[in-house]
Amino acid sequence: MNSIGAQVERISVGLKEKAKSFLGQVYEENNLLEKLPARWKVVEKEIEETGSYIHTFLELEYGAKLAWRNSNRCIGRLFWKSLKVIDCRDVETENEAFDCILDHIDYATNGGKIRNTVSIFAPPSLSNEPLKIWNHQLIRYAGFETSKGIIGDPASIELTHKMKLLGWNPKPAPWTILPIVIQKGDKAPQIFEIPKYMIKEVPMEHPDHPWFADLGLQWYAVPMIADMELHIGGIKYRFAPFNGWYMGTEIGARNFADENRFNMLPVVAEKMGLNRQRGSLWKDQALLTLNEAVLYSFRKNRARIVDHHTAAEQFQKFINDENAVNRSITGDWNWLIPPSSPASTFIFHRSFDNTIKDPNFYYRKKTCPFLG
Ligand code: ARG
Repeated sequence: MNSIGAQVERISVGLKEKAKSFLGQVYEENNLLEKLPARWKVVEKEIEETGSYIHTFLELEYGAKLAWRNSNRCIGRLFWKSLKVIDCRDVETENEAFDCILDHIDYATNGGKIRNTVSIFAPPSLSNEPLKIWNHQLIRYAGFETSKGIIGDPASIELTHKMKLLGWNPKPAPWTILPIVIQKGDKAPQIFEIPKYMIKEVPMEHPDHPWFADLGLQWYAVPMIADMELHIGGIKYRFAPFNGWYMGTEIGARNFADENRFNMLPVVAEKMGLNRQRGSLWKDQALLTLNEAVLYSFRKNRARIVDHHTAAEQFQKFINDENAVNRSITGDWNWLIPPSSPASTFIFHRSFDNTIKDPNFYYRKKTCPFLG
């Protein structure tokens, strides 16, 4: 066999192994083992003939659920079985893809009763010109570098800049929602604006501090990650945006508090009249105020959110449920502990096996493949 032949052979052997072990798991966990031999025969032949294979909807759906169950960094995995999987594999054009994105936003947002959802587009193995999305999250605030300093979210500066190179030309303003950029193969990327009315946003206020509302903070209700790849049984879905709902600290203790994000601790401490000369714990007090405001405002606006203590309890239940069916869980301690009061949750006081199991979600290498 020549070396290219040998290479193809090796690839399909790797794929075959992954497909076989994945299908074994799906059919076993769904009590469908009697269907496995026939299915495996079809898949094996398909891989030999085409170098790839196509998941049935059941495989796709359960595979996506498993990917969530295996996400070591996620504290919210108790709900893995309820993931809604939307099959977008037959989508071919940028316009159709954007329609699916809008459907995802609408279904997931659900007026604030947020539903865990993933939309799965065709993997590159199934298409000559696969669709990709540039965004980090479907909804995200832009960040502008101006002569007067940064306006918006500093985390979005690079992506905002790249979108401007494509011709997006907004006036720099805080809380500007980035458009969606979809690209088919190597073609020119297409820009789409999400209609404002479809985006649920929460203006921030604090139950005890009337001045808090005047800070003008707000956040969008649904975190929808768009730049991770979903790997299922050897197939790599590179365009598979997914969402859960927020844990309050993601916004209160990170997005609003991190020095390289909205850096609000000094401002909040000032407004609270805290004495910053008396040690450093003004930061903890300001953090608590931010976390309180986020939870209060989301609840007031009927947008689903979970506080970190409740999330930790739910995570404990996830572990118990898994153990009850003789499965052990994997986890990444560094990510599972919440950024506020970590030692007040059980997670802090134990360790986790951080083995990466497949199916799973993986980081994509580059945000915008053709602009570096
Ligand atoms: N931490 C990210 C953010 O603040 C969102 C990550 C996903 N979070 C989630 N609850 N599913 O935007």
